[in-house]
Amino acid sequence: MSQSSQVDPAKLAAARAAIALVEDGMKLGLGTGSTASIMVRELAARAQAEGLNLRCAATSRATAELAESLGLRIETLDEIGWLDLTIDGADEVDPQLHLIKGGGAAHLREKIVAAASDRMVVIADPGKVVETLGAFPLPVEVLAFGFETTRKLIRRALEALELGGRDVLQRLNGSDPVITDEGNFILDLHLMQIPDPVALARALSAIPGVVEHGLFLGMCDLAIIGREDGTVVELARDADIDADMLAHEGE
Ligand code: A5P
Repeated sequence: MSQSSQVDPAKLAAARAAIALVEDGMKLGLGTGSTASIMVRELAARAQAEGLNLRCAATSRATAELAESLGLRIETLDEIGWLDLTIDGADEVDPQLHLIKGGGAAHLREKIVAAASDRMVVIADPGKVVETLGAFPLPVEVLAFGFETTRKLIRRALEALELGGRDVLQRLNGSDPVITDEGNFILDLHLMQIPDPVALARALSAIPGVVEHGLFLGMCDLAIIGREDGTVVELARDADIDADMLAHEGE
């Protein structure tokens, strides 16, 4: 049961290359988002074809529902305990394999699952690869309690890092606030550039109302970047990223 030609070929190539890393008996973390959904479909097809015995933890309700509908066994992270491999998408990937995640509002569970994995592999298309993080608005999951106070404290922290004056916008779905799987709100930080992700991550984590930010620093072991022609480029941490190598010839 392979996926149709309507699926983005770059995302599909990355997903297939990541699925090739899966072995019988593995405990897996399943990411969230459009690329991760393609991966879940590929995984389910392979598991069925080869009769693989897998235990999977999902990073969102949406992924759990998709995986179960395709016959994959989903358990809670605590039932499984520790994972061999997590495969997830990303919104941005830099040369150190630092990531921005949370475009799908799932970065809290995604980070917990990735932190409980021997290996985190990111799958993405070339548009996600950047020199410097920050063009994609940084998602920050915050508690509803004291929401405006937390927003003020975030603005203050940004000023201290010379990132003042940037938009810090609540994520909405129409006119309603987006509510995460954990019942929290999302603030999107429109920073344009994040010159020092480590300092920013530390400052955000120090704010009590911040539940989790979407910077994944030092967590990704391998990024598999799919290309339109169906080939992939694998990026290890600190590898030189050749933009031409990632581009599709026809672009
Ligand atoms: C979910 O919250 C995100 O972290 C996703 O992994 C990220 O947004 C990538 O999604 P796409 O594969 O849909 O671009």
